[in-house]
Amino acid sequence: MRKHFIEAEVVSVERVAYATVSIGLKAAEIAGQVQPGQFVMVGSHNADTHDPFLNRPFSVHECDQKTTIQLLIGIVGRGTQNLARLEPGNRLSVLGPLGTGFNVPAAADPVIIIGGGLGIAPLNYLARQSLKNGKKVILLYGAGSREQLIPTADLESLGVKIKIATDDGSRGVRGNAAMLLESRLADIAAETRKQAYLAACGPWKMLQALAEICSKNVLNLEVSLESKMACGVGACLGCTHFLSDGSGQRVCKEGPVFSANEVFGT
Ligand SMILES: Cc1cc2nc3c(=O)[nH]c(=O)nc-3n(C[C@H](O)[C@H](O)[C@H](O)COP(=O)(O)OP(=O)(O)OC[C@H]3O[C@@H](n4cnc5c(N)ncnc54)[C@H](O)[C@@H]3O)c2cc1C
Ligand code: FES
Repeated sequence: MRKHFIEAEVVSVERVAYATVSIGLKAAEIAGQVQPGQFVMVGSHNADTHDPFLNRPFSVHECDQKTTIQLLIGIVGRGTQNLARLEPGNRLSVLGPLGTGFNVPAAADPVIIIGGGLGIAPLNYLARQSLKNGKKVILLYGAGSREQLIPTADLESLGVKIKIATDDGSRGVRGNAAMLLESRLADIAAETRKQAYLAACGPWKMLQALAEICSKNVLNLEVSLESKMACGVGACLGCTHFLSDGSGQRVCKEGPVFSANEVFGT
């Protein structure tokens, strides 16, 4: 798969939840080949101060597979504040697609997608592609409060079964995404467990809890990891994560998607 470094035109900027924007980019070279779980490095500097100097990694949240990709961006610091100020017509340097995507087995059914907070970012595209491939898709989505949830009505109308949990109970059940999975286990009959494929992205503790549940219940889980990145292409080793067997893996190159077993040794 070829990487492209392009000056992408911003086609939309929309606030979709508390401190969260969705940015649409015209990026045909990337849209034509990106797989769910892959990411792009985005120039996020202020045009006057050039701060921050390093590009920032963002998952592809949605893609029409022809011309446009969407990024879901949580505003947490200097780079993301700059991105949230963009307007349609602005241009942005984008490098991608990068990293490895989710490995959904051809026979997988159902596809169970578990997102914590902004971890929903790569999972939306995975949900849509899995539906296109004829899979039954279940989304278990946790966030701090209802204000932090991005809208899911679109996915629901396409047939995704959605369960929501919030820490404060302001929407869905009070709790987190790992609790949602535990409560669904009885519905995943023993004979379909071997075929079920689970993908998760979110806070480390959530991924750890999910890995334990999946190990106990013989469920196949992949997790998308985050790490601070400098180059995004495997050159600087700045994103190296040590797997449970002690091997160092670059999150930007060998990842960001790994099997939960590799990461947690469960
Ligand atoms: C492969 C990958 C995909 C990602 N996809 C998305 C996405 O789709 N949407 C999204 O909102 N974010 C995503 N992130 C995280 C995003 O890259 C960071 O939030 C962003 O780089 C912060 O930039 P900043 O300049 O605004 O923050 P900074 O000013 O650099 O830092 C502000 C705060 O954010 C923390 N931070 C910075 N980088 C990261 C990071 N990589 N992970 C966790 N915390 C960080 C810092 O420790 C600090 O507390 C992804 C990260 C990776 C590695
Ligand atoms: S960010 Fe440079 S090797 Fe991964």
